[in-house]
Amino acid sequence: MIQATLHQLRVFQTVASHGSFTKAAEELFITQPTVSSQMKQLTQTVGMPLFEQIGKQLHLTDVGRELLATCQKVFEQLDRFEMIVADIKGTKQGRLRLAVVTTAKYFVPRILGHFCQKYPKVDVALEVTNHQNITRRMLENQDDLYILSQPPEDVPVCSEALMNNPLVLVANKNHPLAGKKNIPIKRIRDEAFIMREQGSGTRQAVQQLFAKHKIYVNVRLELNSNEAIKQAIAGGLGISVLSEHTLYRESSELELTTLDVQGFPIQRQWYVSYLDGKQLSVIAQAFLEYIQEYTQKMDITSHLVS
Ligand code: PGA
Repeated sequence: MIQATLHQLRVFQTVASHGSFTKAAEELFITQPTVSSQMKQLTQTVGMPLFEQIGKQLHLTDVGRELLATCQKVFEQLDRFEMIVADIKGTKQGRLRLAVVTTAKYFVPRILGHFCQKYPKVDVALEVTNHQNITRRMLENQDDLYILSQPPEDVPVCSEALMNNPLVLVANKNHPLAGKKNIPIKRIRDEAFIMREQGSGTRQAVQQLFAKHKIYVNVRLELNSNEAIKQAIAGGLGISVLSEHTLYRESSELELTTLDVQGFPIQRQWYVSYLDGKQLSVIAQAFLEYIQEYTQKMDITSHLVS
C-alpha cells in the first residue's frame, strides 16, 4: 500500500485544484519550498510523476488525475466521519458544499445565514455560476447540493421542487410599452434585447419561448451577470428577461419595470438537487430539510419592485 500522509494528500489536492505550487502554499499557509518537498516525497512514494510542467502551466499526469479522484473520495469520507462524530455528540459540525445558479444568489445567502445561525459550527463553500458550469460540477461530483431551476436530463440526479421562479420581461420605467396590458409577443421583435451568456439557463428558457413563437430578437448586448443586465436596462440599452428574484426593492432606484407581454412570465421552478446514489452528509441532509421548510414559508414578493 502507498505510504502517503494525509498532509501530503491535502497539499497535492490543493496544488492540483490551483494548478500552482505558489497558490497552494498561500492557501495552506505554508512555504513554497514545503509544498515542493511534500510533492517530491509524494511522487517518490507513488513512484510515478504526478505533474508535468508545459511552459508555465502545471498539468496533472494520468496518475495525478487518478490520485486527485482518490483524494476527493478520501477527504469526503473523512469529512463525513467528522460530521457523524459531531452528530453523535449532539452538534452539527463540518462543511456544506453548495453550488447554485446565478439567480439563486438572491435568496440562498439569506437562507444560509439563518441555517448557520442555527448551526454555528457549520461552514459553507458556496459556488455561484451558470447552469452549464453547474452541470459540469455535478458530473465531477464537486458539491453536496445544487440549487438550480432546471435539473439536467443527462446527469442522474434526485431533485426536490422548492418554489416558483418566474422569468419576467424587464424594461426601463420610461419604456413606451411600460404600463400597457397584454402586449402581443411579436411586438418585442423590434426591441433591442440584452441576452444572458451561452450556458445560462435563463437564456435557454428565453430562446425556447422565442423559438415557439418564431420570434427573432435583435440582441444588442450579451452579459453574464444579472446585476450588469439591470444596469444596462436602466441605462436604456434595451430590455431583457430576468428571474423575478433579481428584482429586489432597491432595484426601484434603477427605474426598472416589468412588461405585460404574452408568454410572460416564463414559469420556472427552483429545485434542490443532488447526485443520484450520493450518500448525503449529516450537514447536507440538515440543509436539504432546512431549505425545503424555509422556502415553503418564504414570501419573495415582499422584495420585489412594483
Ligand atoms: P442561469 O440560471 O444563471 O444559468 O441563467 C438560472 C436558471 O437556470 O433559471
